[in-house]
Amino acid sequence: MWKGRFSQDTNEAVLNFTQSLDLDWRMALADIRGSIAHVRMLGHTGLLSAEDAETIEKNLCDIADEIRNGEFVPKVSLEDVHMNIESRLIEKCGAVGARLHMGRSRNDQVNTTVRLYLRKELLEIWSGLDALILVLLKKAEEHINIVVPGYTHLQQAQPISMGQFWMAHTQAFLRDAKRFFDAYEAVDESPLGCGALAGSTLPLDREFTCRDLGFSKITANSMDTVAHRDHFMDVLYFAAVFGGHVSRLSEDLIIYFSTEFGWIKLPDAFCTGSSIMPQKKNPDVLELLRGKTGQLSGALVDLITMTKGIPLTYNRDLQDDKRSLFRTIDCLKGIFSVLPALINEVEVDEDAANRGFSDGLILATDVAEYLVLRGVPFRSAHEKVGHVVRYCVENNKPLTALTIEEWQKYIPEVAPDLLPLLSPRKSMERRSTLGGTAPSQVRRQIEDARVKLILFNGEAEGLKESIPGGY
Ligand code: ARG
Repeated sequence: MWKGRFSQDTNEAVLNFTQSLDLDWRMALADIRGSIAHVRMLGHTGLLSAEDAETIEKNLCDIADEIRNGEFVPKVSLEDVHMNIESRLIEKCGAVGARLHMGRSRNDQVNTTVRLYLRKELLEIWSGLDALILVLLKKAEEHINIVVPGYTHLQQAQPISMGQFWMAHTQAFLRDAKRFFDAYEAVDESPLGCGALAGSTLPLDREFTCRDLGFSKITANSMDTVAHRDHFMDVLYFAAVFGGHVSRLSEDLIIYFSTEFGWIKLPDAFCTGSSIMPQKKNPDVLELLRGKTGQLSGALVDLITMTKGIPLTYNRDLQDDKRSLFRTIDCLKGIFSVLPALINEVEVDEDAANRGFSDGLILATDVAEYLVLRGVPFRSAHEKVGHVVRYCVENNKPLTALTIEEWQKYIPEVAPDLLPLLSPRKSMERRSTLGGTAPSQVRRQIEDARVKLILFNGEAEGLKESIPGGY
């Protein structure tokens, strides 16, 4: 494309090193859609005759068919998706095709193409996130009355509803959903018409292309537009934080599934065996989820590091933005292909969970709070109950098995009405402060989350509708 200026062909190694076809060919149809908007605008403004504009659009559509049928074999020697498609166009319609690139640079072109491509991919990702949240809500409802241990420092802390556990993860994913739509909004801007960096001397109509492509607004500054990749970072940030949440959920389930905890059940179809140890049933899917999410934080660091220190405006460093972006998209799709289905199958063995806290010590806070209500200052209540706990541990007695006399020996303020409170279920049900683990509070959360999900889905529907047919 630049043969006018050069007296030598590009060195073969340089060609292979600088090409981006291996990364960007997957955006071919989005690139064609961007070109169609550009050519329509050229026709609309009179920069192209109506006839030429029509010829180009028709040939671009034919090229899209060739791509869909797998007939189009792109050449690495043409560097990237943009040059491959343009040169095929020129091959097909000669001098008319050679007019397409007026008023456009690959700098605003690639920017447009990735945004178009990403919009669709993001909406698919939303479907995955929606499905994940939906199945978590279903589990929260199903398990709302199941009592399991809640942990801090991975030590038994207080009894909780398994519904509260699922909702804790759900709240994190709902925050991710908010970040997701913020990222989408950043992507949903039209860069076309910014040219190489400074706009154009030609009377381009940026509003026309923006409308034609269904973007919600036009980018403000031509230099900033071709130089920054903030909108990708927004996507990668959403993904990295989401990945942390997936990893934590996976880790929780791996722990509870282990022989020593052993109070959740995973179906055989979502586990794998060992090639040597016949007894093994391993949670490999969860482990891979935990591991793969590392790529998501890695991708964010990759892009942030790659773009720091680049001067305005476009520099070739930016070509590699697609590496972290596409790896992230693929990783997210992989997560959504298994995680909601796996969660759907998780069952809780409540007896096993309860056996785990048969020493009753998990109820110690309840006793301290009982004393507070009888006028004992919390610090001294804490200490008194601490003595009782020590007595239990030293004498190998469950806290729940102490007689009223034993209680009163250590804590005279205890009355017989303490004893019926000392069950894990009671304890869970009595934590009814706003956002607490009592089923009434979990139910509230589920209802609020359902409303949020409906609103998010409405937003996603609107976005889907704003994308014109094709791309
Ligand atoms: N393949 C390039 C990319 O993905 C297209 C833009 C090239 N622009 C340039 N000035 N060399 O970034």
